[in-house]
Amino acid sequence: MSASLATVAYIGATILFILSLGGLSNQETARRGNLYGMIGMSLAVLATIFGPQVTAEGIPMIVGSVLVGALIGLYAARKVQMTQMPELVALMHSMVGMAAALVGYATYVDPEASKNLDSAAHAIHAGEIYIGIFIGAVTFSGSVAAFGKLSGRIGGSPLLLPARHWLNLVGLIAVVYFGREFMNAHTVQEGMVPLIIMTAIALLFGIHMVMAIGGADMPVVVSMLNSYSGWAAAATGFMLSNDLLIVIGALVGSSGAILSYIMCNAMNRSFISVIAGGFGTTAAAPKPTGEAAEPQGEVSPILATETAELLRDAKNVIVVPGYGMAVAQAQHTVFEITKTLRDKGVNVRFGIHPVAGRMPGHMNVLLAEAKVPYDIVFEMDELNDDFPETDVAIVIGANDIVNPAAQDDPTSPIAGMPVLEVWKARTSIVMKRSMASGYAGVDNPLFYKENNRMLFGDAKKMLDEVLLALKA
Ligand code: TAP
Repeated sequence: MSASLATVAYIGATILFILSLGGLSNQETARRGNLYGMIGMSLAVLATIFGPQVTAEGIPMIVGSVLVGALIGLYAARKVQMTQMPELVALMHSMVGMAAALVGYATYVDPEASKNLDSAAHAIHAGEIYIGIFIGAVTFSGSVAAFGKLSGRIGGSPLLLPARHWLNLVGLIAVVYFGREFMNAHTVQEGMVPLIIMTAIALLFGIHMVMAIGGADMPVVVSMLNSYSGWAAAATGFMLSNDLLIVIGALVGSSGAILSYIMCNAMNRSFISVIAGGFGTTAAAPKPTGEAAEPQGEVSPILATETAELLRDAKNVIVVPGYGMAVAQAQHTVFEITKTLRDKGVNVRFGIHPVAGRMPGHMNVLLAEAKVPYDIVFEMDELNDDFPETDVAIVIGANDIVNPAAQDDPTSPIAGMPVLEVWKARTSIVMKRSMASGYAGVDNPLFYKENNRMLFGDAKKMLDEVLLALKA
């Protein structure tokens, strides 16, 4: 393929990726967005393999690697449960980071890469390598730590080292110092030492940054690492002089940054305070996820049949899904119940908190999978004022996102986070298996409110019983 044809293909792929991002911003166009992305990626891969930068001898190796990668990807896609998606995404971000760092080292030791460069171009080339490896290493280790936290292998509570901000500052100064050493090195051997030391600092920095972030702030970490992986890809593009990688990396990096901003708004946090870590954790240290909370009063349990009766008699119902719905895979039964109630003339709507579940858009994906109509699915801000006119608010496996302590208790680790005000409905029903806390590890006073009922049990099992009673 000629260089100009490859450029045309790259431009085509870029346009498809932009259309893809546009499509993914809305549930109704998300499928089309995915399709654009898939076509764009196929075009990009083909144009790269058959483009001018790859020689014929390289093709068998590339095809072999693509096949191995595709097989691993297919296996993971079939095996990974929907609830494990956030961990998988974190793991994929770590791969992008690792690739950026390895490409950086490979470019540095490749004599061809810096041949015929004048001193200014040489300095830019070295700078690209240094920054690329730094971003790659931070993304890699940060994503691995996030994987550990999201999969529950590492506890959710923040690790707050004494003088942690100073540690970060010293690390940053060291990175700048070794950067200067690296730029002034005359040989590859000489430059390798500062490069390796910087990589070690970057790896520690990535781990420290994620470990210092408390459970409830993890959504920001997920989107932030998404952004970093984009910048890591862009840095790789600079090192390989690949325009498409630069553009796509910048697209992913900036869309991830925008997502982080949206997540911060959703949590009512400033980006800096989340990154600095340990926000809101000084007054009351959160318990590890899932640990039973100290009883704070009496709770009123309810049966599935009574729940069905309340729902049948209601005019307005708001369903608030959370992580437990994903765990129980209860979305299809939720759809059946919604359909049955709507057929009976009940106004059923869904309230989606921006950080419900374990990844951005988690609930929307599940509801779309179950074919719940988009026009009854609302974002938190769109229906939070409607709870006082709601007869029944039914909370399915959600906890932190409906916790009134976020508003009432300034010492709570989730203080200030906007929540769905289900307790303002005439009756709220919380469906979960026990009194255990949610991801942020904090007790939930909602459970003890007078107008609240607890429907204990697995969400799918209990909803099946509710559906049976509704249809009886
Ligand atoms: P959580 O606060 O984690 O609460 C989920 C609840 O579901 C748990 O209390 C659990 O109680 C219940 N549950 C689990 N399995 C269940 C099952 N099979 N049947 C019924 N209930 C079940 O979830 P949430 O309300 O969706 O809030 C999300 C939390 O995750 C926030 O703290 C958020 O910051 C954090 N987070 C979000 C993201 C993104 S991007 N969305 C990423 C990382 C972290 P039992 O054990 O008693 O059943």
